[in-house]
Amino acid sequence: MAKLKIALTKGRIEQSTIQLLEEIGINCDFLRNKKRKLVFQSPYDDYEFILVKAVDVLTYVQQGVADIGIVGSDVLYEDEREPYEMLDLEIGRCQFCIASTPNYNPFDYRRKIVATKYPRTAARYFQEKGEDIEIIKIEGSVEIAPLLGLADAIVDIVETGDTLRENGLVIFEKMMPISTRLIVNPA
Ligand code: PRP
Repeated sequence: MAKLKIALTKGRIEQSTIQLLEEIGINCDFLRNKKRKLVFQSPYDDYEFILVKAVDVLTYVQQGVADIGIVGSDVLYEDEREPYEMLDLEIGRCQFCIASTPNYNPFDYRRKIVATKYPRTAARYFQEKGEDIEIIKIEGSVEIAPLLGLADAIVDIVETGDTLRENGLVIFEKMMPISTRLIVNPA
């Protein structure tokens, strides 16, 4: 029998996903002791797991290579592809927020510059508010953009708030909640 292929997101939600799989009775010893391995055949059940970056989970599911994907709704919201979302797994909860240094004035009429890893999400949000902004796409460590004068504010995900706090930034607006979703190919 063909194994069910499940694409898991590496990093932030990896441990909570494994915990959830174990809670429903899937033995994940081999995922917990994975070292640098990225494809895993379960020795216990008919599952095969692949461990990839969030946006690649979408690609593997979209191309029909993985049957199921587990990925954050931030990535789904940012991507133009539309997989079928079967289930909110209610783990990896965080928020899309607008943050900046405490002296930032969100009501300033000057056209603002917003740095983010999520340009489509940020553009859509400000467009819905009727605010014209400039977006600068950053690949990571977005928090330093307002500190160094690259941007007026950032749009980013906030989980514990530690990264903002440690860099002297504050939340100005909570945009929307994020959680981990189970996706499949619409076909
Ligand atoms: C996210 C986000 C923040 C941080 C927030 O980055 O971009 O930097 O986590 O988490 P906190 O509120 O718990 O401090 P992530 O760790 O996903 O890594 P990346 O910057 O490499 O994408």
